[in-house]
Amino acid sequence: MKESKFEFNYNVFDSIDELPEDQQKLLKQAREVTAQAYAPYSNFQVGAIAKLANGEIVSGSNQENASFPVGLCAERVLLATASSMFPRIPIESIAISYKSENVNSDHPISPCGICRQALQEYKGRVSHPVQLILGGMTGPVYVIDSASRLLPLAFTSEELR
Ligand code: THU
Repeated sequence: MKESKFEFNYNVFDSIDELPEDQQKLLKQAREVTAQAYAPYSNFQVGAIAKLANGEIVSGSNQENASFPVGLCAERVLLATASSMFPRIPIESIAISYKSENVNSDHPISPCGICRQALQEYKGRVSHPVQLILGGMTGPVYVIDSASRLLPLAFTSEELR
């Protein structure tokens, strides 16, 4: 028997002001795009902005439904939009923010498990890591060089070949 472990490094910035200019811009856009969420049930509005390798910017926001499981997270709305509009173009970076009537948006949130799997698939398809920039409306910001760091031992298409 041998013990194995996973660990990864990520960067923590005290505030948006410490980020490089291009990342600041993306996080600001993610904050703005929370306004496009349809989240009447949770009142938790999530915004995601992607910068693609061809320079295009794509947005996503969570879209809920009276039949709760039908709802989609901002991240998967964004990935489906990017894949539909710009198939095969790698996503370089995704900024994610949120706002809510119920909780303070003063720290980063990170993608849910299903979205981590969806992000993993995107990376596999285009052979390019997806950087994540995670931050609330205020407070610290996390920058993770590849979304796949959040899903160790991922199940991927490799297993089906
Ligand atoms: N949500 C996202 O859009 N992204 C996340 O990373 C976490 C959760 C949405 C799903 C649901 O509409 C609301 O936030 C509350 O869970």
